Amino acid sequence: MKIPLCIPDIGTEELDAITETISSGWLCHGEKNSEFEEAFKNLLGVDHAISMNSCTSALQLAIECADIRGEIIVPSFTWVASANAIINAKATPIFADINETSFTLNPKSIESLITPSTEAIMPVHYAGQMADMTEIKKIAEKNSLYIVEDSAETIGGEHCGKQAGSFGTGCFSFFPTKNITVGEGGMLTTNDSEIANRVKCVMAHGINKTAPEQQSKNKPWRRIASDIGYNFRLTNFQAAMGVVQMDKLESMNSKRIKNAELYNGLLSEKDNIITPVVVPGNKHVYQMYTIRLKNPELRDSLVLHLKSIGIEASVHFDPPLHQMEPYRNGEYIRADLSVTDNVCESIVTLPMYPQLGQQEIEFICEAILDYLHS
Ligand SMILES: Cc1ncc(COP(=O)(O)O)c(C=O)c1O
Repeated sequence: MKIPLCIPDIGTEELDAITETISSGWLCHGEKNSEFEEAFKNLLGVDHAISMNSCTSALQLAIECADIRGEIIVPSFTWVASANAIINAKATPIFADINETSFTLNPKSIESLITPSTEAIMPVHYAGQMADMTEIKKIAEKNSLYIVEDSAETIGGEHCGKQAGSFGTGCFSFFPTKNITVGEGGMLTTNDSEIANRVKCVMAHGINKTAPEQQSKNKPWRRIASDIGYNFRLTNFQAAMGVVQMDKLESMNSKRIKNAELYNGLLSEKDNIITPVVVPGNKHVYQMYTIRLKNPELRDSLVLHLKSIGIEASVHFDPPLHQMEPYRNGEYIRADLSVTDNVCESIVTLPMYPQLGQQEIEFICEAILDYLHS
């Protein structure tokens, strides 16, 4: 049996929506972007949602357009894009440690890192589960810090009934492994109109289409840059696919949750496996299903063994960012990152996608248990 790590859930509705939009002749940023953004605003209950070409672009603009240039506290246990976006926005990442059960930013670690240079906190909602936003928001408010939520891995996840990306400026990814996909794409969400207007301008060459200087009736061709910008736009036909994927989000996430429950039932503590812990008050939407081995020495060989029999297991994340060449620099490392180091060594990502079946999950779990008991 061959079982990939993930398969995007794309059906005829997505294909029809893409074909129809391409046939309309309007390929670049257009009406479908507005529809996609509306669906995101409705899900999160926020004032603004801005579609973009990636989550990395959204993260960069979330920082740049809020004029943050100082230190940003971010977990080292994340995809490298979180820190890259900080550097590209000309701010400085400072790595914090994670919580041993949820693998998300540990509020105590954040507090130990705050200095007069700290301007923001970037929690990363890991694998479908949100960070402790109640505590993080308290710390941010107490210290007047801006929050950028890296919600790339958590579309539809909740903390105390509130959606990921609705606590600060939210940034989402639509890469094929995520809860919804458009191939490559991202979304920025915010309630701050000033940030939203600036992001809309900077993501499209720095031209503010609503500015009075663009409105001259006599010279409708005028496009005057008011800022230095990028081209971070998402195409109309990708947005059309996003609209269909948003309609399916709830049902796809429910299937992920059901699959996680099947895994949980078959893997347990007694097998030296730690299954994911859902923190009370959180809705986990399992963008990934990750387990930890109590015996980390077996981790690499288990993943290689699973691959050798057709099960595409993987590891997210190892190494952590503070061990990578661009981020090894002592400037970014002030915290004790021992929980991060331990989790990186012992974590395993198992196949997870809505269409994954019970038989496949049983096959994966049997292979794991056989290997660990042999
Ligand atoms: C935590 C995290 N942040 C950021 C990103 C970057 O997303 P994108 O590929 O859409 O730029 C990812 C994607 O893998 C991610 O997992």
